[in-house]
Amino acid sequence: MSYDPDAVDTDADYPLPPPHPAKFTPKHLNAITEILQDIFGPDIDVAILDPFAGIGTIHELPYTTRGIELEPEWADQHQMTDVGSALNTKFPNACFDAVVTSPCFGNRMADHHEAKDDSKRHTYKHYLGRSLTDGSSAAMQWGEEYRHFHTEAWSEAKRVLKPGGILIINIKDHVRGGKIQHVTKWHGDTCTSIGFQQVDTVIIPVTGLTHGENFNQRIPHESLLVFEKPLPLAEITATIAS
Ligand SMILES: C[S@@+](CC[C@H](N)C(=O)[O-])C[C@H]1O[C@@H](n2cnc3c(N)ncnc32)[C@H](O)[C@@H]1O
Repeated sequence: MSYDPDAVDTDADYPLPPPHPAKFTPKHLNAITEILQDIFGPDIDVAILDPFAGIGTIHELPYTTRGIELEPEWADQHQMTDVGSALNTKFPNACFDAVVTSPCFGNRMADHHEAKDDSKRHTYKHYLGRSLTDGSSAAMQWGEEYRHFHTEAWSEAKRVLKPGGILIINIKDHVRGGKIQHVTKWHGDTCTSIGFQQVDTVIIPVTGLTHGENFNQRIPHESLLVFEKPLPLAEITATIAS
């Protein structure tokens, strides 16, 4: 089913939950499942967190999943997602086997002016139907604030991951002012700089919107960046010795 964010909701007793403009598609979920099965096999007890969970598509993975989402109307669409911040998930240290997530991309979807044409309405604010909550990265364009926010988010992901745990980030570059904005490389470099080891990159071809300003300059793929949180030195030594 595809949602029309402008649809008029006629049932005041059972209002429609707001749609989400950037949820995982089956293509994303299949690619993520393949990566996770290669690493963990089919063990459904593998514990996975999505700290930017949206409407909870992550819970379709065949594992034990938890979600955190800032906007209550989106979080409430799945019982395993809690309302909260990706920067302070409140989970204990080292309790997840994997963090799997799609942060906002810092592109035009973060626009929050009242736009009149179709292209500019494909925004988080328009789909949610109100202004975004303070502290939402969905309102952040690619820039200093976006980079600072995500450095903190990936540090929080590292905190909740077990040693040897896996971080998978779904991300995409975009074109701004005629130039490619290298958002993907920044996330890769930043995670490496805070101590993750990048172990893989999987490319997911996407078609993107076929209308709107600069549609022909859109990047035709997203990436899944795969990182490992290294084992502490003592455990590495023990592993080598055994
Ligand atoms: C790209 S979307 C993820 C969509 C999700 N993968 C799905 O399938 O529904 C990013 C989400 O991060 C949420 N978000 C933004 N800032 C946040 C924060 N500080 N803490 C938690 N979630 C946040 C946004 O509201 C948005 O729903």
